[in-house]
Parts: sequence; C-alpha cells; structure tokens
Amino acid sequence: MFTADLLDGQTAIITGGGTGLGLAMARRFASLGANVVLASRNQSHLDDGAATIVTTVPDARVLTVAMDVRRPDDVDRMVNEAVGRFGRVDILINNAAGNFVCKAEDLSPNGWNSVINIVLNGTFYCSRAVGRHMIAGGHGGSIVSILANYVWTGSAGTIHSAAAKAGVMSMTQTLAVEWARHKIRVNAVAPGPIESPGAAKQLWASEADVARITEMVPLKRWGQPSEVADAVTFLVSPQSGYITGDVLTIDGGAWLGRGTFGFVS
Ligand code: HXC
Ligand code: NAP
Repeated sequence: MFTADLLDGQTAIITGGGTGLGLAMARRFASLGANVVLASRNQSHLDDGAATIVTTVPDARVLTVAMDVRRPDDVDRMVNEAVGRFGRVDILINNAAGNFVCKAEDLSPNGWNSVINIVLNGTFYCSRAVGRHMIAGGHGGSIVSILANYVWTGSAGTIHSAAAKAGVMSMTQTLAVEWARHKIRVNAVAPGPIESPGAAKQLWASEADVARITEMVPLKRWGQPSEVADAVTFLVSPQSGYITGDVLTIDGGAWLGRGTFGFVS
C-alpha cells in the first residue's frame, strides 16, 4: 500500500522531531522521500536526531530549527526557514509536548501554564503558521497532532496535559472544518503507553510503574514509536484522503480496558 516514493518531494515539519515518537515519524517520512524539518528547543536533540535519520536514510534531506513552540516568533521563523530551504510545507506534525506527574492540588500556576503553553498554545501557533502558508500557496496539506489516549478519559495525575490534549482534539475538529475548503486535512492520533526515554523520564521512572501500566493494556505490551509512525503515515497519505477531523487511538485497547469487567482474563 505504501510505496517507497509515497512522500517524494513533500516537506514535513515535525515539532519535537529530534527524540522519541517525533524522531520515529521523521525517519519514516525521510525513508518515504520527504524533506524533514526537526524543530525543538535543544540543538543537541536536533543534531542527534538528524544523525540518526542520516544513518538509516543516507540521502535524507534534513533541516533542524532550534525553537520553542511557545514563542510565535520562533514558530514563524521555523516555517520561513523550512520554506526557504525546501520551497513549501506540505505536512505538519504537532508532536512537541511537556508533561510531568503532579496532583492537581499541588500544581503551581507556572507548572500548569508551562504544559498548557507547550501543548495547547504551541499547537495553535504551529497550526496557524503552517495553515496560513498552505492557504496562501493554495496547495493544501495535512496536519496531524499527537494527543494521548486520555483524551477519552481524563488523566488523574496529569491534569495539565489531559486538558491541553483535549483542547487540541477540539482544535483538530474545528480546523478540519474551517480549512477543508483549502484542501488541508487535520487529524490526530491518541497513543497509549509507547516506549520512549523522554516520556519514561517524566512519567514512569520505576520498573513497578512499567509493570503496572503493562498490566492495564489488554494487548499486554507497550507500543513502539514505529507503530505510531505507521498510523501517522497513513493519515498524511492519499490513502486517508477522505478522513479529516478524526482521532485514531493507538493504545492496545488500553482505554477501553478500563470498563467495569476489565478484570476478566
Ligand atoms: C511539579 C513541576 C514538575 C514536577 C516542573 N514543574 N516539573 N511541578 N512536579 N515534576 C513545575 C516547575 O516547578 C515550575 O513551576 C514549572 O513547572 C515550569 O518548570 P520549568 O522547569 O521552568 O519549565 P520548562 O523549562 O519550561 O520545562 C517544561 C516542562 C519540562 C514541561 C516542565 O518537563 C519539559 O521541558 N518537558 C519536555 C519533555 C517532556 O515532558 N516529554 C514527555 C512527553 S510524554 P514553579 O511554580 O516552581 O515555577 C507525554 C506522554 C503522555 O506527554 C501520555 C502517556 C500515556
Ligand atoms: P519526548 O521524547 O520527551 O518528546 C517531546 C519532544 O517535545 C522533545 O523532542 C522536546 O524537544 C520537544 N519539546 C518539548 N517542549 C518543547 C517546546 N517548548 N518547544 C519545542 N519543542 C519542545 O517524548 P515522546 O514520548 O516522544 O512524546 C512525543 C509526543 O507523543 C508528545 O506529544 C506526547 O505527549 C505524545 N505521547 C507520548 C506517549 C508515550 O507513551 N510516549 C503516549 C501518548 C502521547 P526539546 O527538549 O529539544 O525541546
């Protein structure tokens, strides 16, 4: 279904593309012929990510942009640099995120704002900047945001992230309708637990945490970043050309497994 030239000549911006899930998507896109733009705060994340991509895709075309999605000026510069290097932008993956476990009653205003600013406001700034570029160019495009499966349930322990991701889900539905006339499709994926060092450091530091989470997943295993890349590749491909405003859950059945009779083995 996916040929090696699926994304030939297209340009994809992946925020947070130097690590974890973002890097897995960037690698996949590069292997399918796309120009990839990795954008995040830490230049060493970006350099390591670019080196990883070139190791597996030697002729990859990779641009790195050090920026903070919380700063609209940085976001505009990211789009300008991408257009300056590759001519236009066809795909945006809103993947950058911040998260940490904290009880709601202990969360400071600055802690709340830091996650809301990265996930909710940053996704808006990036979508707006890339959307304006796609609308002006008249070439359309595809935007995919990375949510989490707790958009369906809420998430005790990460209220900032749960609220922000739910807001991005609403943004996805809203933009899908507003921008359909510009041939811009807007979708999202909602992963459950996926192996990733960045998330592990913030959210599941101990072996006991990992074991408890594994037990909660009906498929009894963690997802791989490549499985998220599979789903997102589908959503940016012509094979999903009639899908917009939707959310694809990638969680081994985890959120459904929270039902009353979830103990049945
Ligand atoms: C309580 C905390 C905290 C913690 C930070 N804060 N960590 N409060 N518990 N563990 C508070 C700080 O005290 C401060 O508030 C405020 O948050 C901002 O902290 P800074 O360190 O100044 O923020 P900043 O440098 O902007 O960093 C943002 C960050 C950080 C979100 C706090 O963790 C980060 O950069 N994360 C990026 C990577 C990441 O989180 N990846 C995981 C994504 S995984 P005060 O009041 O003291 O000033 C994911 C998976 C979800 O999302 C789904 C799983 C199923
Ligand atoms: P990760 O490696 O920590 O990824 C987060 C990325 O966001 C990093 O590359 C980070 O790069 C970037 N970032 C953070 N703040 C930023 C900012 N202000 N501006 C620009 N970039 C910023 O963790 P991950 O697991 O791969 O997470 C990727 C996405 O998947 C996130 O949206 C996360 O919520 C989602 N997700 C993950 C899981 C999971 O189980 N792993 C499950 C559900 C959803 P810098 O530090 O260089 O800025």
